[in-house]
Amino acid sequence: MEPCFPIDTKGHPIILIGLMGCGKTTIGKELSRMTGMPLIDMDSIIEEQIGKKISDIFRDEGEGHFRALETALLRYIENSISEGKGNVIISTGGGVVLKKINRDILRRMGFTVWFDVDVPTLLERTSRSQNRPLLQSPDRFEILTRLLKERAPLYAETAHLKLESSHISVQDTIPLVHEAAKQFFA
Ligand code: S3P
Repeated sequence: MEPCFPIDTKGHPIILIGLMGCGKTTIGKELSRMTGMPLIDMDSIIEEQIGKKISDIFRDEGEGHFRALETALLRYIENSISEGKGNVIISTGGGVVLKKINRDILRRMGFTVWFDVDVPTLLERTSRSQNRPLLQSPDRFEILTRLLKERAPLYAETAHLKLESSHISVQDTIPLVHEAAKQFFA
């Protein structure tokens, strides 16, 4: 099916950031379908490249190694913009903003949207998740509360748009991102 609502991003990506469970992957897929822009899901690409699940990379090589892979992938994506391959949607992992170099790349290479979702909603949306090493603990509420507190300023620094989307369905979020992206690139 032809995409119904393409956006002229002038060769730059639309980037989705936020904590685990905020809806990046689902929104990314739907936005990709609507606009015809390919979806780059960073976690999936890293898993494919390394041939291992994220949780196994954390267990075997450690979080630092995973963070290095994230940065390498971002640099690669940024380079590909100059080759005319930047017209994509990027769904990031929740911790991508931890490194300053990543925040700088994300902010300068495209339009970056932060889905700011409250902890109870994140908890509900991650309740069945088994492949998130940082959530392998009985007290997910406490972990998510701490991560949100630590990372909120980093998401804020990186994003061009903050969408408070705890009480908006994923379906209703998509047109908001679409419209904001159109305006950003106009
Ligand atoms: C992480 C989030 C995960 C994944 C990894 C680390 C984090 O991605 O990159 O488990 O530090 O918040 P999602 O946000 O897509 O779950």
